[in-house]
Amino acid sequence: MLIDKNTAESGITQLDAGKGCFDSPRVALLLRCSRVRRLLPRNAVYYDAFTNMSETVRTLLTANGEAPRETSGESDAGFLWDFWYPALRSTEVTGNKLATAMLLEVPLVLGRASDGKAFAMRDSCPHRGIPLSYGRFDGKALECSYHGWRFEACSGRCVEIPSLTSQDKLKVERIFAGHYPCEERDGYFWVYMNSPGTRLGEDVPAAPKLAVFSGKYRATHLACELPSHVDQGIIGLMDPAHGPFVHQSWYWRSRHSIHEKEKKFEPIPNGFRMSPHTPSSNSAPYRMLQKYTGEPVTTTIDFVLPNIRTEEIRSGKLWFSSRATVTPVRRDLCRIDFVAAWNLLLPVWIFRIFAEKFLRQDQETMILQAEGLKHNPRLMLIDDADRPAKWYFGLKANLLESRRTGVAMVHPMSGPVTLHWRS
Ligand code: FES
Ligand SMILES: [Fe+2]
Repeated sequence: MLIDKNTAESGITQLDAGKGCFDSPRVALLLRCSRVRRLLPRNAVYYDAFTNMSETVRTLLTANGEAPRETSGESDAGFLWDFWYPALRSTEVTGNKLATAMLLEVPLVLGRASDGKAFAMRDSCPHRGIPLSYGRFDGKALECSYHGWRFEACSGRCVEIPSLTSQDKLKVERIFAGHYPCEERDGYFWVYMNSPGTRLGEDVPAAPKLAVFSGKYRATHLACELPSHVDQGIIGLMDPAHGPFVHQSWYWRSRHSIHEKEKKFEPIPNGFRMSPHTPSSNSAPYRMLQKYTGEPVTTTIDFVLPNIRTEEIRSGKLWFSSRATVTPVRRDLCRIDFVAAWNLLLPVWIFRIFAEKFLRQDQETMILQAEGLKHNPRLMLIDDADRPAKWYFGLKANLLESRRTGVAMVHPMSGPVTLHWRS
């Protein structure tokens, strides 16, 4: 659409939606429809900052006047929307301090309202796009630093536009900043990333929660960034064959301890489970645990979409439970968030020494891998060691297909499977 030259130059966007100043036939048609016209907050127009604003306006107004969601025309980045993702640690938000994060290439501003409720808004003012995180937050509303529009943090609803006079008819409460469901769990701010341009469904599930098996336990959190697409991070996480090469150490395993393994897997909703089994006999910590309790050690490992690997180790009354998620930040960056809880006599600091080393080994390997992936090589997935990676891609594709067609999702596994590999 062409904006009146004076208007464009002065940066004024006071366009009367009803006066036919839209060139795009689609938009013009839309505006001729009186129902749509009624829905437009008077004197307000939405435009897309991706396009040249002096020449084109794409009206993306939704029925309740909500600000447009991400409308990047860029290629599909292979993200799974409509899932919860951990955005940041709870400890990063104190008092009325605002924190920022990025999930699935969406910039977010997060905080905690004075009643303790966590919130996540798109870090972009719906007026002119300045990050809202530069504004002020009083425990209830977030005030934009540019023109002082105020938004209720938990709903994104605009509550004040200071420049309006009694002459203005603009319905302030029909303007929304982008906002996402947000919950605090297990020491994280979780954000439900509903897909761009869609309205949030009624049935948002609860955010994931780490399983614990007693009232008292120790817990710790670790994180590391990987310079790769989330898919590479996830298949790296479930890959059994790299252990003896990447995670060599005297206390864990060496490349000489490699031996043939047989593991049973079964399908679970949106994922697969390595059926409860006695863990690898070449891992010293498991041997020690069995010696200590005198009871068998069993491990259950689940992977579920979009990105969650959980592991539960039980031996008598003792247990260890962990969750690793690989979260897409951008298409070329993901982050592993690892949380573990246990009631073993294992001090947190000792666990962290080993876990940090373990994660660093993965991270260093993926930094090297990213060097090779820059050249877009052809890659391979082999049986059986890469079968879990194939299931992951199958689950992802089938979920997207089911969402597209509305037909129930087909699981890529038809039933329990036994896999064999050496590691
Ligand atoms: S840009 Fe936020 S109020 Fe104007
Ligand atoms: Fe690893």
